[in-house]
Amino acid sequence: MVTNFVSEKAKLGNNVKIWHFAYVGDNTEIGDNVKIGSLAHVDYNVKIGDNTMIEGMAYIPPLSKIGKNVFIGPAAALTNDPYPASKKMIGVTIEDGAVIGSRAVIKAGVTIGKNSVVAMGAVVIKDVPANAVVVGVPAKIKYSREEYDRKKKDWEDS
Ligand SMILES: CC(C)(COP(=O)(O)OP(=O)(O)OC[C@H]1O[C@@H](n2cnc3c(N)ncnc32)[C@H](O)[C@@H]1OP(=O)(O)O)[C@@H](O)C(=O)NCCC(=O)NCCS
Repeated sequence: MVTNFVSEKAKLGNNVKIWHFAYVGDNTEIGDNVKIGSLAHVDYNVKIGDNTMIEGMAYIPPLSKIGKNVFIGPAAALTNDPYPASKKMIGVTIEDGAVIGSRAVIKAGVTIGKNSVVAMGAVVIKDVPANAVVVGVPAKIKYSREEYDRKKKDWEDS
């Protein structure tokens, strides 16, 4: 029984865990210690850096560039074609340490800056600078990554 599909042309680092029914396309490069959840679709020509976690049902289309230590929440959708079905595609870039909330959608060509956080359900239509938390449709800056980390620590300590 086929439990997932990983292209023979994909390059996988050490200790990569790909859960059931996930798909990984041709020429995709995956770093060390990456986890890819069930039903995730990681298409061809995608780059994923070390220690990144991609949760179940995430959609990562061709040309996406994802850095190190990134978290991509369940069913988040990166896109690569602003006017489908067009002949030209441009990937989303997610820089190191960013967090993408569940069911967020990110427009083709957008960059999510280093350590920034995209809220669950946000629709990101323009670049997000580093260290920002963005929420809503269309996504706007709500507060800083520093405040997010404070809230996270309070949550973990409570
Ligand atoms: C963005 C996030 C970190 C904010 O958390 P928080 O600071 O505890 O949120 P709060 O409930 O205190 O709300 C702070 C403000 O942001 C708004 N907000 C929070 N989450 C929002 C969201 N997803 N979309 C739109 N607005 C949101 C609130 O309405 C509030 O606005 P106000 O100050 O104008 O009233 C959180 O909502 C989130 O999306 N986390 C990601 C969760 C996730 O996807 N996990 C995946 C693994 S299971």
